[in-house]
Amino acid sequence: MQNVMKSTNMNGSSPNVSESTRRTLVIGSSGFIGRFVTEASLDSGRPTYILVRSSLNSPSKASNIKFLQDKGATILYGSITDKEFMEKVLREYKIEVVISAVGGESILDQFNLIQAIKNVESVKRFLPSEFGHDIDRADPVEPGLTMYNQKRKIRRHIEESGIPYTYICCNSIAAWPYHDNTHPADVLPPLDRFQIYGDGSVKAYFVAGTDIGKFTMMSIEDDRTLNKTVHFQPPSNLLNMNEMAALWEEKIGRILPRVTITEEDLLQRAQEMRIPQSVVAALTHDIFINGCQINFSLDKPGDVEVCSLYPDTPFRTIHECFEDFAKKIKENAKAVSKPASNNAIFVPAAKPEALAITAICT
Ligand SMILES: NC(=O)c1ccc[n+]([C@@H]2O[C@H](COP(=O)([O-])OP(=O)(O)OC[C@H]3O[C@@H](n4cnc5c(N)ncnc54)[C@H](OP(=O)(O)O)[C@@H]3O)[C@@H](O)[C@H]2O)c1
Repeated sequence: MQNVMKSTNMNGSSPNVSESTRRTLVIGSSGFIGRFVTEASLDSGRPTYILVRSSLNSPSKASNIKFLQDKGATILYGSITDKEFMEKVLREYKIEVVISAVGGESILDQFNLIQAIKNVESVKRFLPSEFGHDIDRADPVEPGLTMYNQKRKIRRHIEESGIPYTYICCNSIAAWPYHDNTHPADVLPPLDRFQIYGDGSVKAYFVAGTDIGKFTMMSIEDDRTLNKTVHFQPPSNLLNMNEMAALWEEKIGRILPRVTITEEDLLQRAQEMRIPQSVVAALTHDIFINGCQINFSLDKPGDVEVCSLYPDTPFRTIHECFEDFAKKIKENAKAVSKPASNNAIFVPAAKPEALAITAICT
């Protein structure tokens, strides 16, 4: 294996992150999970290539890609739907690791990518777009089930193709779990009222995006994760909604009212079949009503748990993540209170609720 362990990464912040020379291609870098994974790949020192579709349809995506390019990523323009192009890329750039973080609507596009990987025979590890639950165990209602069935098809195709793989099951992102938002880490936790699913007692694992990236990188350099499912179950990040709400109240110094969202409410939102909101409602139901992250044992031969693999590398706690959200509110509040002449340096977070808390935090 062409990697050396060093005591700190390029930020000097994360011990035990390996530095690798393995040429890595990330697909979906302009997206939510792909951004974290690409940053971690660059931080780990590996040559990092990112596949970008030529039509970057939003300014924020374009600025994400520019940021990654400035950090050292090499941009390749194209789509995984073009198998011949993908084969050419894999061969020409001698890619050894392929990480896909395509979104829910593009899961089946990965069939072409798998075929290209199979044909070139030089890829040593493939990570399909997973980054959530163990889709062979979890059983959400529709439309979540359709997405899981697609991810299951991709798993079976990888296994039949004999491609070396790792499935990353990182559970939930460390943020307030809004039932209608695919990317809750981009939004502040509530500042008006909590919506609690069921009785709020079912626990889930909340993992910081930077840790999803960091531990994904560690996993792909590790022979113990070859053809395995890597479960992220840090005990420090296992909380239920009542505990999450209490923690956020502690951070903002204020008690908020609670509203119950019942199982029936979530099922109804799922049945509305609004995509992607109904997919999120279906998964929220599976997490906080069915307990899909905690209702099984790691007893299959393919299961490995990330804290057992890397016991000396800490996870960011949900306390720390919520502290960051609270800091953002304070920073916004300070910027808002500056005189008009200073306004030019303040770019609001575009969240009205962030501004609403000014009086509480200052
Ligand atoms: N654990 C969690 O809390 C959590 C949260 C969200 C998502 N997820 C999972 O993480 C994975 C990624 O989801 P996401 O929400 O991060 O996705 P996303 O934000 O929608 O981003 C998808 C990315 O894939 C790219 N892409 C899509 N089709 C492509 C193609 N044919 N060729 C090349 N690039 C393509 C998109 O490029 P463009 O910019 O060109 O569209 C974009 O960069 C999914 O499996 C999802 O289920 C997990």
